[in-house]
Amino acid sequence: MKLLHIDSSILGERSVSRALSSEVVEREKWICPDLDVVYRDLALDPALHLSSAHMAAWAGAALEGARLCCDLELGQEYLTEFFEADIVVIGAPMYNFTVPSQLKAWIDRVVVAGETFRYNESGEVQTLLPRGKRVIIVSTRGNVYKADTPTAALEHHESYLKGVLTFIGVDNVSIVRAEGLAFGPDAKHTAINRARAEIAALMT
Ligand SMILES: Cc1cc2nc3c(=O)[nH]c(=O)nc-3n(C[C@H](O)[C@H](O)[C@H](O)COP(=O)(O)O)c2cc1C
Repeated sequence: MKLLHIDSSILGERSVSRALSSEVVEREKWICPDLDVVYRDLALDPALHLSSAHMAAWAGAALEGARLCCDLELGQEYLTEFFEADIVVIGAPMYNFTVPSQLKAWIDRVVVAGETFRYNESGEVQTLLPRGKRVIIVSTRGNVYKADTPTAALEHHESYLKGVLTFIGVDNVSIVRAEGLAFGPDAKHTAINRARAEIAALMT
């Protein structure tokens, strides 16, 4: 069994999503002791944004420059890791109402037509991923985004991640959520404990 663990918070040791995503991974390792874990820290080791040179190379232009070669190699590694993982754990804080740009840059490398999905002649989306992949999103945010509240329209975070994953054919997506983290120490403590209970419930 393979697990891909991704973190994207820029808050280092103060990060809630990092703490909770590693708890998810520890629980999965406890359930399956010989789990093969690959870790990507997208804040320390970011995926480069897509570029014109990158797209030209994809279209068959000659590779120019060591940086582009490394970038394409890394992109291929991301794809392979994503393909091979039975479980993917994604630490996903909300920054400005959506995912961190570090995580978006990684998504740009794995949500690729012809690699993870394709359109058929009727315009339907077909997945190219192996069946059975499970994704656990660890969602953290300062505010709360309940339906029918003024903030609901700004929720481009969990809905985006879940939508993208469903689009490429991953239908087993769970969310562990700690929100309202900016509402003071008590609210933060309660939110983290609630998320820990969600982690425990995931694994039963
Ligand atoms: C750059 C930045 C932007 C943020 N933007 C939002 C936001 O739009 N909405 C929100 O609810 N919280 C926002 N927050 C608060 C974070 O979502 C919250 O601190 C969360 O704990 C971040 O996860 P982390 O602790 O793993 O980094 C922002 C925090 C940072 C650092």
